Amino acid sequence: MGFKFWEWKAISYESKSNRFLVFLILLMFSTESLLFAVGSSTDVIIPKPQKFLPGKGKFLLTKQTRYFSDTALSKNAITYLQRQLKLNAGFILKGGKLSKDNTISFHYNPKKVKKSEAYRLHIGKKYIIVEAKDKAGFFYAVVSLMQLMDPVIWGQTGSSGNTKSWSIPSCTIEDYPRFKWRGVMLDSSRNFFSTFYVKKFIDRMAQHKLNRFHWHLTDDEGWRIEIKQYPLLAKIGARRGPGTKLPFSMYPAMRGPKNKLQSGYYTQDDIREIVAYAKARSIEILPEIDIPGHAKAAIVAYPKLLQDPKDKSCYRSVQKVSNNTINPGMESSYIFLENVISEVSRLFPFGYIHLGGDEIPKGAWKKSPAVHSLMQKKGLKNTREVQNYFFTRLDKILAKHQRKMIAWQEVTEGKPKLRQNDIFMAWKSTKSGKKLIRKHRNVIMTPVQYLYFDQQYTRSKKEPGHTWSTPVSTQKVYDFKAASSSYIRGVQACLWSETLLNEKIADYLAWPRILALSEVAWTEQKKRKWKDFQKRASEEGLKRLKIQDVHYRSVLPVR
Ligand code: ACM
Repeated sequence: MGFKFWEWKAISYESKSNRFLVFLILLMFSTESLLFAVGSSTDVIIPKPQKFLPGKGKFLLTKQTRYFSDTALSKNAITYLQRQLKLNAGFILKGGKLSKDNTISFHYNPKKVKKSEAYRLHIGKKYIIVEAKDKAGFFYAVVSLMQLMDPVIWGQTGSSGNTKSWSIPSCTIEDYPRFKWRGVMLDSSRNFFSTFYVKKFIDRMAQHKLNRFHWHLTDDEGWRIEIKQYPLLAKIGARRGPGTKLPFSMYPAMRGPKNKLQSGYYTQDDIREIVAYAKARSIEILPEIDIPGHAKAAIVAYPKLLQDPKDKSCYRSVQKVSNNTINPGMESSYIFLENVISEVSRLFPFGYIHLGGDEIPKGAWKKSPAVHSLMQKKGLKNTREVQNYFFTRLDKILAKHQRKMIAWQEVTEGKPKLRQNDIFMAWKSTKSGKKLIRKHRNVIMTPVQYLYFDQQYTRSKKEPGHTWSTPVSTQKVYDFKAASSSYIRGVQACLWSETLLNEKIADYLAWPRILALSEVAWTEQKKRKWKDFQKRASEEGLKRLKIQDVHYRSVLPVR
């Protein structure tokens, strides 16, 4: 016949294909879901909404645009939008009457929006409608609205603050979170972070619909929260380096300069300010007071209260810190801890306090007469039962202060009698988390292999971060599949700070991995696809971070 193979193929298809092509085009324009499937410029939101229907045309937000609201629940959301517009457009979004002309209306609508933290957002050519039934829902609707605007809207300095009109593509979104707990932990102990940085960190979490800031405030290397009844915690426990009582371990920080003083703590005023800042962004703060291990800073400040003077035990933690564990045989330990919990619970309104419980060193308490006497009195057979006694008693103290307990998974190992509502963080592996579920424990999944953001992205020697576990690439984070169980409260990433010598390294290790985390936490599993996320993250997500001067890792590495 004289045709080459590919020519023959093209001709043979042509006869049936014309009609088929017309059919395909018709189908594409007749169903919105197919339009969505082929992708559109409006597909920019992170985390990906559960339902998204692109519309036609766009809304133009200008100085003349007004907002209307029938509920005080929308206040934080409106304030947030107004702040960013003031910074980046130079005008304030003013209030007006209910109208379908150039107006953004906020409506309380529990009939249409049934789930907590959920929202409906309709962007038409003439008006925008936001519906929700709680503060978080309104806030997240505004976050989505702003993600549909030019990334310049996220600027924090106002340096480009003169964009006069903002085009927002028409669409309808119905959205809700997969998990109630969508957290990130920041360790302020090993390296201290300024209140300014902590606020920026919280703000970026809020921009991605994350709602729990777990604040690791105490550890061997530093006690970072002012406690009025125990001023030496700040005076002694918050200073590490030459001339201080804490010249040990990762001193002053892993791979850091050896002659630098690492100091800092948050005053109670700082904390109140940060709590309010987070609340305005629908974020609850979970304070962690890590006990009885990881407590060297407190022990050095108050040795007589927290250690048995006759204790001859000599041990080291896995991080090589010597004798860092509070003594559970001393009554003074419980008085100290109750006083601390009392101040902490007055500062943090959230219903939970994290009491640590991880990595109690082998050999701790072994030669303490106070612990032996406690064991005899209470009929405790071994160290694990002493640990149970300690946490059972602390759980009761928390209850007295109307708080529930969160702790690392080790606390459950000895089967202490804790309340059913307490929650445990499964950090060792996904498997260990599933084991807790089988024991009917509430779990937050934080497996090191996927969600420890202090680990390097890759094995490269040039990468900052730890290497003691596996590398955690952004794709690895994205690939984390939390099992569906009513015992799983959610997921959380942990940013331990031994290697975080400055804020740039903290940013680098956090981003873009937090982008991936947000989608793991928010979006239903079946709606998540790495390639789709990768495109949105690299085209839009990183732009939003760049405009805020976040020092993110600039490529999204595959495994
Ligand atoms: C932990 O990583 N020690 C909770």
